[in-house]
Amino acid sequence: KKIAVVIVAAGSGSRFGDPIPKQYHLLGAKTLLRHCIESFAKYVPSELIRVIYNPDHQDLYDNSVKGLSLDAPVPGGVTRQQSVLNGLRSLENENPDHVLIHDAARPGISDDVIDRVISALATYQGAIPTLPVLDTIKQTESTGIIRRTIPREQLHRAQTPQGFHFKTILDAHQRFEGHEFTDDAALLEQLGLDVVCVEGAGSNDKITRPDDIERARDWINPVPA
Ligand code: CTP
Ligand code: MG
Repeated sequence: KKIAVVIVAAGSGSRFGDPIPKQYHLLGAKTLLRHCIESFAKYVPSELIRVIYNPDHQDLYDNSVKGLSLDAPVPGGVTRQQSVLNGLRSLENENPDHVLIHDAARPGISDDVIDRVISALATYQGAIPTLPVLDTIKQTESTGIIRRTIPREQLHRAQTPQGFHFKTILDAHQRFEGHEFTDDAALLEQLGLDVVCVEGAGSNDKITRPDDIERARDWINPVPA
């Protein structure tokens, strides 16, 4: 099967709270974005990898990918969902069978996780890596008073790469353009299509706040510069 990859890196990292967006921060010798690109480079030829970026960060991008042979990055949109759609559209001419959509903010992606997602696409229209919810989950009123406890057995924390049959996810994204779903599986769920969960990894948790990058330093073996 012909597999393409979309890496979304056009966010501004408002919760991370640094003028330099989190995807351009270093973890060991490489930026978060570069860790992601290199993880997929073993699976997919470079012309089938699309990085979605904000052209305002051209210099940060160029430094981040120095020495890699990649196609030109694709400008993103205001929302993650729009950025993904721009990436999918840029692949239409390539017409891949499957596409893996990954957050640049998840530098700890492993081969195991990628393999599980790809394998599941033989059976399902979509597959995403998830981890179980371990804490007891409380639903509250705005006052903070608890109204109920949500059973956690059927709750899962969604990660990326989220894998899909290319035509299916492109159609779904075109149909739901302008919505603000925070992941791609949600669009197929809306259409009643089956997306399956496969096992994710702790190292693959998203870098959202400054503390997360400190934790990631334990997960990723820095490559000496
Ligand atoms: N993303 C994107 N385009 C956007 C918004 C987000 O490509 N308009 C990407 C981010 O770069 C990130 C991934 O989507 O790799 C997941 O989003 P998130 O963790 O929310 O990153 P940010 O939106 O950058 O951070 P924040 O929400 O804290 O501003
Ligand atoms: Mg965001």
